[in-house]
Amino acid sequence: MNLSGGQQTRAALGKLLLQDIDLLLLDEPTNHLDLDALEWLETYLSSWKGALVVVAHDRYFLDKIVSRTIELAFGRIEEYPGNYTKYLELREERMDRRVREYEAQQAYIAHTEEFIRRYKAGQRSREARGRQTLLNRMARVERPQDFPELAFEFTPVTDSGLVVVAMQKLTVGYGSDTRSPSQTGMPMALMNVNEVELVRGDRVGLLGPNGSGKTTLLRTLIGELAALSGQVQMGHNVRIGYYSQTHTGLNMANSVLDEIREVSTFSEEGARGFLGRFLFSGDDVFKAISMLSGGERSRVALAKLTLQGSNFMVLDEPTNHLDLQSRQLLEEVLGEYEGTLLFVSHDRYFIDRLATKVWVVEQGTLIPYLGNYTEYRMHKQQIVQNTLVAPAKKSSVENTKTVAAAKTSGKKGAKVKARTVEDVEGDIEKAETQIKEIEAALEVAALNADAAQLTQLTADYEQVKARVEQLMNEWEHLADMAS
Ligand SMILES: Nc1ncnc2c1ncn2[C@@H]1O[C@H](COP(=O)(O)OP(=O)(O)O)[C@@H](O)[C@H]1O
Ligand SMILES: [Mg+2]
Repeated sequence: MNLSGGQQTRAALGKLLLQDIDLLLLDEPTNHLDLDALEWLETYLSSWKGALVVVAHDRYFLDKIVSRTIELAFGRIEEYPGNYTKYLELREERMDRRVREYEAQQAYIAHTEEFIRRYKAGQRSREARGRQTLLNRMARVERPQDFPELAFEFTPVTDSGLVVVAMQKLTVGYGSDTRSPSQTGMPMALMNVNEVELVRGDRVGLLGPNGSGKTTLLRTLIGELAALSGQVQMGHNVRIGYYSQTHTGLNMANSVLDEIREVSTFSEEGARGFLGRFLFSGDDVFKAISMLSGGERSRVALAKLTLQGSNFMVLDEPTNHLDLQSRQLLEEVLGEYEGTLLFVSHDRYFIDRLATKVWVVEQGTLIPYLGNYTEYRMHKQQIVQNTLVAPAKKSSVENTKTVAAAKTSGKKGAKVKARTVEDVEGDIEKAETQIKEIEAALEVAALNADAAQLTQLTADYEQVKARVEQLMNEWEHLADMAS
């Protein structure tokens, strides 16, 4: 079976659930997951009773899952009691306090040194020496170190017309056209858009599972790909800034410096200063793009974007390689951006902060929703509750309920006729078959990322496991009595 990254994660975790484990160590489990898979993982981990250590850059995920945060930076470990949001808050307090302590001590040291310098040869030399000893013994407060911050902004040079882009009866995908050749030679439609418009100042988050055609849609909108059918109309004075998910706009052979100088009028010195704001310093700027890490390439791509003065930003997963600080900064910068914004992201924190509308790809159709991600989720959950929960209940809960009911009536019967070792063995066998069935169902539900079903099955699983344990005790008891 050939599984995608997300499916592999789900399958691996689905298996883990069935083992007797006290501690889960997860190294960036959210990286290649789309929203459905992320939500599945959160549901899964919320019901996890053991301990959990996770490395992740997904803040929404961290907020939901963790109760303690440990930061590794500047060669030290700092612990914070709380989730990501709490960590941010506490960290700022801690930094402020340390800066104040540091500054107060520096002032004290300067003052004391001045005293010593002035009096060490005079009448008060003993006191001066005493102070020198104190100063030598004093534990120094370190200068607090903080993360370097990207410093940039996006400023549109002109306004676009009111309608930025309009789509009508649009189908995007790959076909016979030379601008969108299909890898397989077969035409392939990925997504339909009936009638959707983007208006100046809109901030739209485009959501959909991996492979649903989000990148294809963006590339069609900016004119890089031909539509299979239908129309895309660009508005007046629209200047597009495109951030490619795979950084296709970067010339791999260029150095960072050349890449910037090609699209600007900067002198070398000017370009180096500019790149410093994107955390490239010293010889960094001479590195070839091909040698850069994902995060560094993202910074070059963002640097280029800020030079374009575009009034319509089309960003395809811009946060992917960014660390937490950089994501936060990009959020702030885009929050102040006055142009129109269309972006793909799986970072729900990012989506929630920026998007005023979400467009969702559902079964090959683009559906526009008003409201941000959280509002969209609430709306969605209502639908899921109305439709999904009913069949889910039938399939597993009621099974166990009837089994449980049968057992209780069996117990009542036990008053009349004592259970034998054979009776109990039969029950154990039945329960074990049930466990096997649940395990199989769990694997299927895990692969389908069916969160509701998974939660249910996990609960069932634990129930039956407990039942087996109880039966084992009963069996031991009966066996003891028999011998
Ligand atoms: N030139 C091509 N020919 C045929 N299929 C392609 C081509 N380029 C991408 N695809 C396929 O189109 C689908 C959608 O891709 P994409 O738009 O990148 O999805 P998303 O950005 O939503 O993850 C994927 O299955 C991908 O493999
Ligand atoms: Mg994509």
